[in-house]
Amino acid sequence: MKKKKKEMIITCAFPYSNGFIHIGHLLEHIQADIWVRFNKLIGNKVYFICSDDTHGTAIMLKAIIKKTIPKNIIFEMYKSHIIEFKKFNIEYDKYYFTHNKENKILTNLLFDRLKHNGYIKKKICKQLYDIKKKIFLPDRFIKGKCPKCYAYNQYGDNCEICGAFYKSTELIKPKSTITGLKPIIKKTTHYFLKLFLFKKKINNWLNLKVIQNNVLNKVLEWFKKEIKAWNISRNNPYFGFKIPGENKKYFYVWFDALIGYIGTFKILCNYNKKINFDNFWYKKTKIELYHFIGKDIIYFHSLFWPSILEGSNLRKPTKLFVHGHITINNNKISKSKKTYININYYFKKKNSDFLRYYYASKLSNSIKDIEFNIKNFIEIINNDIINKLANLISRNSSFINNYYYNKLSNTLKYSKIYQIFINESKNISNLYINMKFDIIINIIMKLVDLANFYINIKKPWYLFKKKLYNNKLQMICTIGINLFKILITYLKPILPIFTFKSEFLLNTKLTWIGIKKPLLGNKIKKFKKFFHRIKLNEIL
Ligand code: MSP
Ligand code: ZN
Repeated sequence: MKKKKKEMIITCAFPYSNGFIHIGHLLEHIQADIWVRFNKLIGNKVYFICSDDTHGTAIMLKAIIKKTIPKNIIFEMYKSHIIEFKKFNIEYDKYYFTHNKENKILTNLLFDRLKHNGYIKKKICKQLYDIKKKIFLPDRFIKGKCPKCYAYNQYGDNCEICGAFYKSTELIKPKSTITGLKPIIKKTTHYFLKLFLFKKKINNWLNLKVIQNNVLNKVLEWFKKEIKAWNISRNNPYFGFKIPGENKKYFYVWFDALIGYIGTFKILCNYNKKINFDNFWYKKTKIELYHFIGKDIIYFHSLFWPSILEGSNLRKPTKLFVHGHITINNNKISKSKKTYININYYFKKKNSDFLRYYYASKLSNSIKDIEFNIKNFIEIINNDIINKLANLISRNSSFINNYYYNKLSNTLKYSKIYQIFINESKNISNLYINMKFDIIINIIMKLVDLANFYINIKKPWYLFKKKLYNNKLQMICTIGINLFKILITYLKPILPIFTFKSEFLLNTKLTWIGIKKPLLGNKIKKFKKFFHRIKLNEIL
């Protein structure tokens, strides 16, 4: 029986508007894009969306420093992010930004529903207040001594030295960064989402295998502790959506960013009138929803987000795919600026398939950090892509080009090796679905070794020297080319540029259902070198 095609929304976490895209972010977008391309390849209907996360204090601070308004920065960064993702062939169906009308309407709507359903409470809290400026100070506008490690010059929310999180009122000797004055403590009201009311529902949801096992254990640990209500409002000054009926209050950036998953999809629907927005979000919908996220934002996606959805009578995510972080010299990317800039500069000019391949070779469904090592990167690319894959096609196509008028054999004698190659398709398909890209690469490297070994023992160049360039030589090269064709079809989601060049050379479109059908009697194009080897001095 034919399997029914699925329909799915796939998202990456929204990068903040206040910084450039770096190779750390790219891990997530590449991982998701590979999964998206695979799903499209096997015929599923996919909507791949993402946005810039535009609100919050950081962007407001940046605008003040640059003597401009947040909107200008948002727009500049949006343009830069789009270019960056395009360069790595991340094929979004819609990439937008959260500061838009649709998202505002949806944020208000969900807030109303949550309120109506009894999940929101208003509470009086204490907050630091600048008497001269007459404003409540956002955490990033306060500096003082960390209450845990006593480090000087720390922000009002967390310490960059010891990593502690605290309330701004706990900070020792706080100072307003605007006026330099000591703030007073003043009462104010905030809106809270009563997260504890969702505990049971979220627990049931987590039991549906929505998250990798090792991540699940971490989340269940949090659940054992008390779950506090979540403050979803911020006082002026802030950059974000104003809370209706309030004068000087805004929604907290994370509230409208999460709802931005729906907002971005709504924008996509505005462009593509064939998609029925409502079908995707009602509680019992069969359409799937997948989020790719880093391990630093699990809490937001496993607790806040499903609670917002549950409390607004909407569907919850089908799965969260959590990944670890990219490190350079075992540091966070932000701490290894020079190396990162060099690498980024290198990728600006070079073939982006290389980074996609490198990441795929490291990606499993675990949340371990992945160290970006330049020597290892060069070794893997030169060895796997240049020495093995490109070599397989170059050595076989040159004979077909030069002695057979570019034409492949009309028949393929039953070949055992061909059968071995196509027999892997089910296995590889399952590995893609389960996000085990590293194992896929391993299998493909074993197969390409086998293909090159096959050519080595059949020795086409020997037949050629002996002037035996008859059907036999053509047949061997036709087999070699067909083995290559199968491998590139398997790699298609990972390597868009390599695929494009191969499809051009082979004069055919590579499809998943076409794996078993060999190319016979076709005319191929003239082979031209696909890629050059990478040298260390090109990068550093
Ligand atoms: N804006 C929030 C997400 C809101 S989702 C509704 C945010 N932005 S972020 O720019 O800090 O991170 C975006 C994504 O990139 C996150 O999933 C984060 O884990 C990922 N990464 C940021 N640095 C990374 C690495 N060095 N390595 C791998 N992923 C990294 O969080
Ligand atoms: Zn500290």
